[in-house]
Amino acid sequence: MHLVIISGATRPQPKSNTAKIIAAFQKGFEENGNTTEVWYLSDRKQWDNAKNAFESNEHILIAFPLYAENIPGIMLEFLSGLKPKHNSHTKLAFIIQGGFPEACQSRCCEAYLKMLPAQLGCEYAGTLIKGDMFGLGMVDDKNREKMLAPFVEMGRHFAEKSCFEKYVADAFATPEYMPEKQIRMFNMIGRHISKFFMGSIAKKLGCKGNLYDKPYESSVNNPV
Ligand SMILES: Cc1cc2nc3c(=O)[nH]c(=O)nc-3n(C[C@H](O)[C@H](O)[C@H](O)COP(=O)(O)O)c2cc1C
Repeated sequence: MHLVIISGATRPQPKSNTAKIIAAFQKGFEENGNTTEVWYLSDRKQWDNAKNAFESNEHILIAFPLYAENIPGIMLEFLSGLKPKHNSHTKLAFIIQGGFPEACQSRCCEAYLKMLPAQLGCEYAGTLIKGDMFGLGMVDDKNREKMLAPFVEMGRHFAEKSCFEKYVADAFATPEYMPEKQIRMFNMIGRHISKFFMGSIAKKLGCKGNLYDKPYESSVNNPV
């Protein structure tokens, strides 16, 4: 099987978590002689090739980061430029990965993705959801490999089934919600650790102000 993979991430390939996930997925998918081609929407020079690949292939996978609980703007722009296919047997599958750990974050987006293939004249081939991916580019190689191993396995699964089976995708997406005990522990201890790490990351990225600033708070409390 030949699979066209389109990355809907806005960050360029070397910095993108989506790109790392795609590479892991390819590893599992290609094990038995399957082939792939990948197009990155972060590079607008690749859009024509991505569009042509969508038009002329029957197995398409779109992988992207969750942005404000839905698809990134550039991906929406790209999708709006595609012409619906006629009489095609194209199967369209998706991978959503996000920063927050709970899969419930991605369910609204998933509902949109379930409707999308029909609008493009394609069949829906399932959605893989994975949270807690924010740090993928920051951890060491060993931990990154550990985080990516499930995607290698999903590449194998997709090669076998040509889709993401719902029960497999549901198991893969866990946790749907964080257990209450874990939330309580986070509020007591975890959030202070997280605040410290987020602060140092922000500083490295050039942030000079307080991450918890609310510059518009006074206008909310005292509307004109
Ligand atoms: C503008 C913006 C919005 C985001 N919105 C969400 C969100 O709603 N839920 C979530 O879980 N993660 C959210 N994230 C985190 C990204 O999905 C996450 O860090 C992802 O791994 C980034 O992938 P990339 O490196 O391929 O862009 C957001 C990140 C950005 C920059």
